[in-house]
Amino acid sequence: MNAYPRDCWYVAATSDEVGDGLTARRILGHPVLMFRTSDGSVVALEDRCAHRPYPLSAGHREGDLVVCGYHGCTYDGTGRCVRVPSQDSPPSGAQVRAYPIVERAPFVWIWTGTPGGERLRPPPATPWLQDDGWSSVGELRDVDASLLLLHEHYLDLTNVFAMHPEMVPPGIEALPPLEAVEVSEVSVSYVRELPGAPLAPWEAQVSGLDTVELFSRTETGTFVTPGLHKQTYAITGADGAELEMVRTHGLTPKSPTSTHVFLQISWRGSAVPDAGARLAAVFHEMANRDFAVLETMQRCLDEDTTPRRYLNVKADRAAIFARRIMQSMIEEERGR
Ligand code: FES
Repeated sequence: MNAYPRDCWYVAATSDEVGDGLTARRILGHPVLMFRTSDGSVVALEDRCAHRPYPLSAGHREGDLVVCGYHGCTYDGTGRCVRVPSQDSPPSGAQVRAYPIVERAPFVWIWTGTPGGERLRPPPATPWLQDDGWSSVGELRDVDASLLLLHEHYLDLTNVFAMHPEMVPPGIEALPPLEAVEVSEVSVSYVRELPGAPLAPWEAQVSGLDTVELFSRTETGTFVTPGLHKQTYAITGADGAELEMVRTHGLTPKSPTSTHVFLQISWRGSAVPDAGARLAAVFHEMANRDFAVLETMQRCLDEDTTPRRYLNVKADRAAIFARRIMQSMIEEERGR
């Protein structure tokens, strides 16, 4: 399988990326142009002029209109062509596609699937990114690996011993098995409890907690939708929960083999004043290593001329369920 479901909300941008200028991005193979209108709402249009194959993002704004940089055809926020400079009025029906948008900062969600399908379900809720008490830092990364490789990677964190040993609390030699893998028609989640252990250096630097005391950790991972992965990590001491963290990945296919990753790290509880900068640095480095492996796997897949069957182990349970859900969504879309 080397594709992605189309009828799904995906993150198109972060709120701070979209302003008065013209923001261009390829999303599920579509060239998309985004800008913020004078009432503060985000507009997303197909980034191709209806007249010739030229990107509207190479043009300019005139108030809430976009003017093509080639012959000056002008479009409003609904994608309707409202002016053709060389004639009195635009041809009837001249239009580019406008995509439904829902903004819930820091994410701007887009629907590029079947028109009207967006009304059946809203984008997933992300209260930890909006609610009081939580803080977040984030970054956008582009990875030359498929959406499926990314989901499978984040649903099996047993790679930490080989790839990120400094993230593992001292004395923990193996991750306990997944305690509960919950599967619904559209989502998969697991829970794992780690035995008591002192803080790893990164945990101590971020939380400012005692480095001798033993803490337990609860980790959960959730395939929320094809466009969203959520991992939680709670550090609990003798007095209860000390620090809760959420790593959010907005995963948006750019093409069948490349993906935009909108990474957010959120936290609440015991944290040092510069926890945001520290967490951003820790998870940036982690992402560097993850993405190098994922891009290598994508190259191996692209180069393999004969399909292979790869082994599955117990730790792959959640990833296999996620793969099945994506596969059945893709098949259902193909059958329609
Ligand atoms: S290509 Fe845009 S106006 Fe001609």
